[in-house]
Amino acid sequence: FKILRFLWRLTWLSTLGGFAYLAYHVHDSKNPPEQLGPDPTKKTLVILGSGWGSVSLLKKLDTENYNVVVISPRNFFLFTPLLPSCTTGTIEHRSIMEPLRHIIRHKKRAVQYYEAEATKIDAERRVVKINDFSDVKGTVSETEVPFDYLVVGVGAENATFGIPGVREHACFLKEIQDAQQIRKKVMDCIETATFKDQTEEEKERLLHMVVVGGGPTGIEFAGELHDFFEEDLRKWVPDIADKFKVTLVEALPNVLPMFSKALIEYTEKTFKDENIQVRTKTMVKKVTDRNIEVEVTKGDGNKTKEVIPYGLLVWATGNAVRGVVRDLMNQLPAQKNSRRGLAVNDYLVVDGTEGIWALGDCSATKYAPTAQVASQQGNFLARLFNSMARTQAIETELYQLDQMRQNAKDEAEKAQLTAEIEIKGRSLSKIKQLSPFEYSHQGSLAYIGADRAVADINWFGGVISSATGGELTYLFWRSAYVSMVFSLRNRILVLTDWLKTKAFGRDVSRE
Ligand code: FAD
Ligand code: NAI
Repeated sequence: FKILRFLWRLTWLSTLGGFAYLAYHVHDSKNPPEQLGPDPTKKTLVILGSGWGSVSLLKKLDTENYNVVVISPRNFFLFTPLLPSCTTGTIEHRSIMEPLRHIIRHKKRAVQYYEAEATKIDAERRVVKINDFSDVKGTVSETEVPFDYLVVGVGAENATFGIPGVREHACFLKEIQDAQQIRKKVMDCIETATFKDQTEEEKERLLHMVVVGGGPTGIEFAGELHDFFEEDLRKWVPDIADKFKVTLVEALPNVLPMFSKALIEYTEKTFKDENIQVRTKTMVKKVTDRNIEVEVTKGDGNKTKEVIPYGLLVWATGNAVRGVVRDLMNQLPAQKNSRRGLAVNDYLVVDGTEGIWALGDCSATKYAPTAQVASQQGNFLARLFNSMARTQAIETELYQLDQMRQNAKDEAEKAQLTAEIEIKGRSLSKIKQLSPFEYSHQGSLAYIGADRAVADINWFGGVISSATGGELTYLFWRSAYVSMVFSLRNRILVLTDWLKTKAFGRDVSRE
């Protein structure tokens, strides 16, 4: 009986503790404390971008040690893993956006933010040229920002490989506006297909949703689209039920090359069951406003051409280097052999520069361009900058102690100062021993529709790895993403969206 009473009290206490924790975080997120102002004696650290790499750095950086300036055309952090869910309204777009202002207002020393694009990094003059390309412009919309240290985290742009018509006619899936555009266009295609007297052939074209690229972006989007159709569209617009079609086009012999063979097969089988047509060994060569022209490699190696009509075309064929990064690479002879982005050393310093670091998708390392890599690099750079600041502080102290020792009057005072110098010297060499960046791969996860996900997971730092697919993996996928969404506010918003979708279905109105 005593044990039961103890357990009962423990339950109550932990519930109360949970509520107190929640209340504290809600209060703290709404009431940021006073901040220190800029300090002219500190170095200026300029961070470009507000994505996975830059925001992970910003979150862990002790801003007391630097005057930090953030430059990005996007004044929010975007949780990209849930972006495909926004294309169909499973999740509302604002739920995966975290305002940058919230993040920087919680730092110890005020962080300056400029909503602008870096258009040129002048490595020699140590300045970044910035432009405000937003709709509202003041009398000044172009200027320069000087830096002592610079971190380049501008990500990558969509690869089109120069294929004609892609930029003009396809939708991409990288930014929040892309997801909104896709959501609008899906509904537009459906409403246009049901227009009075529409021909059968035109209906078929309009209801053909084509996804190019069998990487995780294309796969997750196709899965989300399938769910939207099966769970909502089929019910609310029954006239399209037998015509709505999703096709995934991939140039290689299989989809999801980064996953194990078993999971590739599982994904392809699931897509077959979901009536998503997967066309591998099919390379898109040209895009017009209504068709894609593809080259198909047959089993015997022969190639044939085909024209596929589409209503919606989503282009997800990976990353290309941004102009500002390409320009910096062209300034530096050390970058001449780099193709995929800025070549960096083990400490993420851009080859051929001093005081310029790069992280995430704009850097070229041996790792895949993923959020996992970018965020671990951001955390690494935060540790590096924090320890650089501590090193400088201790070196200044050591210098002062040494001066005091030289001027000491008696031996006892000298001995005491020597002991102090030794202790500080030891802690200095410890701080200086920061090991190079090493990526720890936690595994890959992708949603494939119909409440199923695939996961190649490394447990306990890679000691055990497992490859699973199915409904349980899907629950794991959900809980993993909810725990990863950065802020408590966003976590609650995402959970509410999921519940709302389960209870009422997705909204089929066109904005
Ligand atoms: P980004 O996060 O792209 O951030 C770049 C930042 O730079 C942005 O704020 C941008 O506005 C800013 N910027 C751009 N140009 C300039 C400029 N000229 N000057 C200043 N700032 C600029 N990875 C995973 O590991 N797991 C997943 O589940 C996953 N899902 C994904 C789903 C989708 C739909 C997509 C598109 C990607 C997904 N990724 C995932 C990949 C992941 O999002 C990227 O690898 C990650 O965002 C890279 O981080 P980053 O900081 O380098 O760049
Ligand atoms: P990707 O580079 O992984 O895949 C693009 C695919 O498009 C390739 O398989 C390529 O063969 C194909 N392709 C290229 N040109 C083509 C053409 N003309 N015709 C037909 N197919 C063509 O790109 P993706 O999916 O955008 O991913 C980018 C990065 O983001 C990757 O590193 C990926 O791992 C990461 N990511 C991870 C996710 C996850 O872990 N769940 C989700 C989304 C992205």
